[in-house]
Amino acid sequence: MYNNKLTSYGDIGFSKFIRKAFNRQLGFSVEDQNKPIIGICNTYSEINRCHSHLKPIVEAIKKGVLMAGGIPLEFPIISLGEINTYPTTMLYRNLAAMDTEEMINAQPIDGVVLIGGCDKMAPALLMGAASADIPSILITGGPMNNGEYRGRTLGACSDCRYFWQEYRANAIDEQQLMEINEKLAPTAGHCMVMGSASSIAVCTETMGLMLPGGASIPATHNERLQHSIETGKAIVRLVEEGKKFSDIVTENSIRNAITALMAIGGSTNTIIHLIAIARRLGFSITLKDFDEISQNTPLIANIRPAGKYQMEDFHKAGGVPVLLKELQPYLYLDEQTVTGKTLRENLSQVSRIKEYEDIIRTEEKALSKSGGLAVLYGSLAPRGAIVKHSTASIPYHKGRALVFENIHDMDKRIDDPDLDVDKDTIMVLKNIGPIGAPGMPEAGYIPIPKKLLAEGVKDMVRISDGRMSGTAFGTVILHVSPEAAAGGPLNYVLDGDIIEFDLENRELNLLVSEEEIEKRKREIPVKPQKPERGYQKMFVENVLQADEGCDFKFL
Ligand code: FES
Repeated sequence: MYNNKLTSYGDIGFSKFIRKAFNRQLGFSVEDQNKPIIGICNTYSEINRCHSHLKPIVEAIKKGVLMAGGIPLEFPIISLGEINTYPTTMLYRNLAAMDTEEMINAQPIDGVVLIGGCDKMAPALLMGAASADIPSILITGGPMNNGEYRGRTLGACSDCRYFWQEYRANAIDEQQLMEINEKLAPTAGHCMVMGSASSIAVCTETMGLMLPGGASIPATHNERLQHSIETGKAIVRLVEEGKKFSDIVTENSIRNAITALMAIGGSTNTIIHLIAIARRLGFSITLKDFDEISQNTPLIANIRPAGKYQMEDFHKAGGVPVLLKELQPYLYLDEQTVTGKTLRENLSQVSRIKEYEDIIRTEEKALSKSGGLAVLYGSLAPRGAIVKHSTASIPYHKGRALVFENIHDMDKRIDDPDLDVDKDTIMVLKNIGPIGAPGMPEAGYIPIPKKLLAEGVKDMVRISDGRMSGTAFGTVILHVSPEAAAGGPLNYVLDGDIIEFDLENRELNLLVSEEEIEKRKREIPVKPQKPERGYQKMFVENVLQADEGCDFKFL
């Protein structure tokens, strides 16, 4: 490959000559340069805390590549961490995807190992690699180990949210809150509940683009280094066999990933990402597919926030291989994987671990007969909305709306003692969608007002055009499409309107007459963000709505 993708100097011979000279800087001979060149797309960053431990993993991948006869060459791309990115990582997911694609295409590499972890990284890497379409494997930095506070297992970040709510309700004091804060992220790694990071890792392994078991190996285990070495060996073999990204990730393998997502009660964000990956490959996978698969897939992973355990426990129970073994009747088993075998062949080696059967249940003992996510349609969401009903406590509700125009409005008024709200109110937050915020932040988890927390209210119906963290919980309806800032019906909801949410019938309706909505359309302006320059301008002018994966139109 070193003789391909030459830098253009207008003289091919000179381009080859100068490249050979500079490649000697790493000590590689001309003969070495003819071996398979493996790019290691390193997303190490000290600011992205979920990726601050990647150096030994990169070294282990390199060992594997060398053992298999390849040449490993590490290169950087943008690194996005949830906790330290303003205003939200989702604003930059597409930028990271473009970075990935362009760097894979521009550099003389034969195959690539992509290193993900924190929520947006694996999706961005997968989107970019899908478009570049060379031999690819994804590996993550792994989940954190379980935390513990006074005998109770802690999980980032379901417990970040749970205890913050307890603090707002005066159920714990500031000292307890700070003691919990010390224990929430006890080791290196990404969040250790089935949030967005773990969900997309499970989906990637299910699609066959990660070696078996890789989604759940804790960040701190030796096993992760062994997995990294094996990943290095596997990518060289993939290059030799000529198996590209699109030979592994097919429409059926993405459907398998959706099945796994439903069986784990996974993150709502994963829906957006899988649609974006499918679009890159030219597959038409829609929200309807997610709902259909959800209705036919048992929820069998007893993992928080939908269940009881965490990723470390999921790994002990056998992780994704055992999950998929149980899901075999629901899967396309003849899909290729990066092991060089089909999913069926991989699963033939797998058996359940009896001692951990409460963690990954059998279908007979499923937590629920259907999957964890539902897609709603109706006059409030003509192109769909999502609810993670595996963590919701309210399956049906008709109530009056209390509307917040944007995040600042909500922030200013949510704890106002005079706020006109009770436990039956439906709280609506507008203008946090892809072009409304911009970037669709995870602000859809509208906090319960303090005065209701004091009355013991733990859940309410909340609706927005934004997202929420995969680690969050409650009756929170998200991704309403089209968003308010694109002129969707959400923009025209007013205080006191009646909204009906019906999970069983998958409906979300604004009970206001069409004439009245038409009148409001003439009176209420649409308020998209209009950045004047740079990447944010490009973002709002090109981003698609949530039901289309929030990718850029031109990608
Ligand atoms: Fe990185 Fe949760 S903050 S995975």
